[in-house]
Amino acid sequence: MKLSERAERVEPFYAMDFTKRAAELVAAGHRVVTLSVGEPDFGAPPLVREAMRDVMDGRPLPYTPALGIPALRGDIAAFYRERHGVDIDPARIIVTSGASSALLLVLAATTDAGDEVIMADPSYPCNRQLVETFGGRVVAVPTTAGSRFQLDDAAVADAWSPRTTAVMIATPSNPTGTSIPFDELEAICTRARERGVWRIVDEIYLYLSDPAADGTLPRSVLEVDADAIVINSFSKYFGMTGWRLGWAIVPATLVETAQRLATNYFLCASAPGQLAARAAFEPASLAVCEERRCELVERRALVLDGLARLGLAVTVPPDGAFYAYFDVSGTGLDSWTFCERALEVARVSLTPGRDFGTATSATHVRLSYASSREELAEGLARLGDFLDGLRPSGR
Ligand SMILES: Cc1ncc(COP(=O)(O)O)c(C=O)c1O
Repeated sequence: MKLSERAERVEPFYAMDFTKRAAELVAAGHRVVTLSVGEPDFGAPPLVREAMRDVMDGRPLPYTPALGIPALRGDIAAFYRERHGVDIDPARIIVTSGASSALLLVLAATTDAGDEVIMADPSYPCNRQLVETFGGRVVAVPTTAGSRFQLDDAAVADAWSPRTTAVMIATPSNPTGTSIPFDELEAICTRARERGVWRIVDEIYLYLSDPAADGTLPRSVLEVDADAIVINSFSKYFGMTGWRLGWAIVPATLVETAQRLATNYFLCASAPGQLAARAAFEPASLAVCEERRCELVERRALVLDGLARLGLAVTVPPDGAFYAYFDVSGTGLDSWTFCERALEVARVSLTPGRDFGTATSATHVRLSYASSREELAEGLARLGDFLDGLRPSGR
């Protein structure tokens, strides 16, 4: 029986391969430090867990409306009003099974064969696969430390073509944890809007980014571009990866299409998850999430300091998410071999740059600092021994 060409073309998500190999080593009795997964170790805020217990009281849990339960969509709209000062009609908010389904839905709604979608290289790997699944062409713009590994308006102008239909930006980014300067984001959005092109901005790590020096909180693109498509999730900031819950905010003109696609593709996101997730927006839950963000900042300091001592340069220090993207070229190993050997020799699981594009694929490695401080310290110590073993005098 034949597999579709489309399916054959989808590349593996290498981070998951390394994590799977790490799990096999653990099953074989080895102690492995897993720093390859972008998954905070906190779990859902306590109020959300309680709410889930309450939902499991035997009530029937039928399908919800395809775009999500109105109450949760209302809570999300209220959150944006409070946090960003923007008024969003809850009808424009689509609750999905994680940001992954939101990205799939939005790209299905906007991408035809031959359409070109501009994104940074490096960037989140699944976006490339999704665009290509719908026949689109990824225009991956190589980025550098100079633009914080993010797109800038000049680079977008260079990459532009009559076939450009969307620009995709994740800020802060996976794998670098670096944010795009807000004026640059605004300039890119203005350029794209004036040319009738979609702006798809993934803000899944936005609330895990540092406030500005003057205390200003990170801004959503919706504050300057009311019709940008925003992707977000309960996975990262709210620590609910396995709950599979996220959302998209789309322009009013896209709602009917999104509804049709969501009904056909998913029927709806998890009903109990949606009901319980309302508690995520309670002030007590947001306070817990803020404490966790601060803990991640401490972990980042530990990791940046540890990597610097090992001579593994983090090219641009992250200002959000929980990733450090460091250059291993000084070790004499390419990034893939570095990750393979770090796992087999030091039992530390990392993600090679190959996952995220080609610009930094040979040189860079991603470390997720979403693990406990103890795990991070252990991982860094092991990497130190591993590097000593690579040096001729250490052999
Ligand atoms: C930038 C980015 N977008 C989307 C996702 C998908 O997240 P979710 O768990 O909400 O599907 C991830 C997951 O790592 C991510 O890093």
